Amino acid sequence: MTSPKSRPLWVGTSWKMNKTLAEADRFVDKLLTFPIPRGIQAFVLPAHTALARVRDRLPPDSHILLGAQNAHWAREGSWTGEISMRMAKDAGATLIEIGHSERREHFGETDRTVALKAAAAVSHGLIPLICVGEPLAVRDAGGTLDFVGVQVQIALSELAPAEIEQTIIAYEPIWAIGEDGVPATVDQIAPVMAMIDDVVTTAGGSACAVLYGGSVDTENVADLLTDPNTHGLFVGRAAWEASGFIELLKLCVGGSQ
Ligand code: PGA
Repeated sequence: MTSPKSRPLWVGTSWKMNKTLAEADRFVDKLLTFPIPRGIQAFVLPAHTALARVRDRLPPDSHILLGAQNAHWAREGSWTGEISMRMAKDAGATLIEIGHSERREHFGETDRTVALKAAAAVSHGLIPLICVGEPLAVRDAGGTLDFVGVQVQIALSELAPAEIEQTIIAYEPIWAIGEDGVPATVDQIAPVMAMIDDVVTTAGGSACAVLYGGSVDTENVADLLTDPNTHGLFVGRAAWEASGFIELLKLCVGGSQ
């Protein structure tokens, strides 16, 4: 267990493969009508095509952090279709999402590439947002803590303790993600969040933020935030419209510690 936290409550969304530039503009304009409450660190991960556009549309003093949904570990070079950490940073990223289950399943992301990308991100002064989570079969077999624990250990294996402090982990059970996902209950996630906190503390001596993601919506947000080891929420569909994101942010007020 970590000591009582002074960290903000992190609440953010990845747009995944959604939004034209015009749609991105509309999202930002609507979001800017809502003052982000104190104690909440909001973040948005647009598609690469919209990252610089969103950065430029936000006021210079905006506290909303931006990030990329993926970036390569190599500094530059012949990696068709990829972007580098440096390019993501140049386009406005502060955060780099790494190892989302959709990338692990469809694009060959492994625990090893996750570790390489986490190291590359911190070497560029970026915050890795590392996604971990078990498939349903692993949960049903009682293997969740071992499976996710190993994912976290390997993801952090190339980082020094001080760098781990700058890293965010998102626990996203695969069975809870997306349209076919079954929302997790706080009882299901609490032991995993506590285990992640222990693994991170052991690896780094100081905990980073650990978020929960997977079918987060207005129905379950309050319940999820009762878990003491959940330092924020990583949201997909429910925040793809700015109005939905704003509703969630409102519900998170008071959940920050
Ligand atoms: P979802 O996506 O909220 O749409 O389930 C979550 C995620 O993949 O991070």
